[in-house]
Amino acid sequence: MTLAGMPPVVARRQVAPRLMLEDPILRMTGVEKSFGDVTALSGVDATVYPGEVLGIVGESGSGKSTLLRMMNLEDTPNHGHYHLALPDREDSDLFSLDRFERRMLRARHIGIVYQNPHLGLLMNHTSSGNVAERLLVAGERNFAELRRRARASLDASEFPLARMDARPAELSGGMQQRVQLAKAIALEPTLLLLDEPTTGLDVSVQALVLDTLKRLLRERRMTMVIVSHDLGVIRTMADRVMVMRGGAVVEEGLADQIFQDPQHEYTQQLVHAKL
Ligand SMILES: Nc1ncnc2c1ncn2[C@@H]1O[C@H](COP(=O)(O)OP(=O)(O)O)[C@@H](O)[C@H]1O
Ligand SMILES: [Mg+2]
Repeated sequence: MTLAGMPPVVARRQVAPRLMLEDPILRMTGVEKSFGDVTALSGVDATVYPGEVLGIVGESGSGKSTLLRMMNLEDTPNHGHYHLALPDREDSDLFSLDRFERRMLRARHIGIVYQNPHLGLLMNHTSSGNVAERLLVAGERNFAELRRRARASLDASEFPLARMDARPAELSGGMQQRVQLAKAIALEPTLLLLDEPTTGLDVSVQALVLDTLKRLLRERRMTMVIVSHDLGVIRTMADRVMVMRGGAVVEEGLADQIFQDPQHEYTQQLVHAKL
């Protein structure tokens, strides 16, 4: 795949004044990733500010999930740097960490919800056990505390507590996403990553899960990156939007401006196809 001939990135509006008051929580620069002949990411920069929701939109294959996996330290790029502002560690390039350090950092500071619940959950453990596992990794050992905290997190995700000992394999898709969400927020992560969290759910269930996310955003100070190929999802959730195509960012800006006045031809096509 080649990016030659693509118009330059349009990024004339960067950050809402409200958000510019604080330094970024996440800074990723110059990220390149190839799988054999396929260039999945090409020179991607991403910035996320505390308390905002960054939406990443683009058609299937544009590199969204690959980028989110990098943010979750699951994968390492061929080139690039990654900095997170964390309370308990000095600033350093997270791509240089070893597997153990990555795992600890991820457990303590990053939560993720995947489109495919098999990636995020042990389908044959109990739902409460899946949430408790995250607490265990962070050092909680007391059984009663594990159960209390797992329950509280499931409740915050609006999971029906009567089913907390059911296995995800027995639950509906919407419920499985709520278990993933409960696990992701159990330790109040610095960064919550969501990769197509409602794709494949019935429209009515999708709306309910998005409502839960919005409620959590209102009640907790959370910083979120949500990836979707669905512009409607991005529109209801995001403060700021990054538009990806062919492994590159073609446009970024405030959500209202991207939707009302898209500058890049590709974004214009996306927005107008949706209206
Ligand atoms: N593990 C992998 N092995 C080979 N190719 C991959 C792998 N992961 C992603 N790709 C390729 O990288 C490109 C971007 O994929 P992806 O990040 O999943 O896009 P999106 O999430 O936007 O649909 C696609 O061409 C995809 O086929
Ligand atoms: Mg994807």
